[in-house]
Amino acid sequence: MKIIACSNGKHLAKSIAKKLKKPYSELETKHFPDNELKVAIKTDVKKKRVVLVQSFHGSINDQLVEVLFAAYTAKDLGAKSIMLVAPYFPYLRQDKAFNKGESVSIEIVGKLIDRVFDEIAIIDPHLHREKGLNHIFKIRAHRLTANPLIADYIKKHVKNAVIIGPDWESYKWAEKTADIIGCESAIMEKKRYSARKVSVKLNKKIDLGKRNVVIVDDIISTGHTLLESAKLLRKIGAKKITAICVHAVFVEKAYEKLKKAKVDVISANTILHKSNKIDVVPLIVNVLG
Ligand code: R5P
Repeated sequence: MKIIACSNGKHLAKSIAKKLKKPYSELETKHFPDNELKVAIKTDVKKKRVVLVQSFHGSINDQLVEVLFAAYTAKDLGAKSIMLVAPYFPYLRQDKAFNKGESVSIEIVGKLIDRVFDEIAIIDPHLHREKGLNHIFKIRAHRLTANPLIADYIKKHVKNAVIIGPDWESYKWAEKTADIIGCESAIMEKKRYSARKVSVKLNKKIDLGKRNVVIVDDIISTGHTLLESAKLLRKIGAKKITAICVHAVFVEKAYEKLKKAKVDVISANTILHKSNKIDVVPLIVNVLG
């Protein structure tokens, strides 16, 4: 097995290789003046199981092209099989044409990945309308979850917790987390008006008195879901609010806005960020080992 870090996957790939005691190398990437990309694999991959690790964040379209180029190159160099480890996988939220004429982006990305990869592993993929990863990919797809790690973190660090899921889609997730911990949970009903405007209300009466509120979500992107949730929870008596997410996308100063709203923010390290406190590498190692 050869673990190869793509440009944004070094923090994970290094740790995966170390834990598995497998050779680590980095994909060489270069942009030409006109922004075209060139990649080079600097390790012998002939007859090897190649694992490309990419954390999609920031320039996700460049990063997508990069993994496709790297996979085709590994194939040309005689790799036995090629796997993509993408703990956060983009475009999953674009799973239908919301308006006439729009692309169903995830279907297109799925087809691109299928053409050259043999396997893919994703942590807590955002599957709301899609039932499973096998509806998106034809290749072997591993769906991993950081849920037990999050529950474990809450158990260790938050006393007297109550778990809040910020929307209906998060209901099973929040409930499962609360079940593992053995505490109460409640769900917000969220209405999304646009990428930056949401409103929320709670699905039941809940006494927040002396309890520590933990909002769990898969992604924090603009932070508006969490900011609105925190605002409402404060109104009904929440004192300490912690937000825990798997994928720390944090665009448009979302993290700073949440800190300003006195929300403690914790994330898993699928995307490198200063709020990372939950390590997902053991999940990945488990699937590779
Ligand atoms: C949506 O269904 C997800 O679970 C998240 O709640 C959402 O992606 C968060 O987005 P934002 O931080 O932009 O409100």
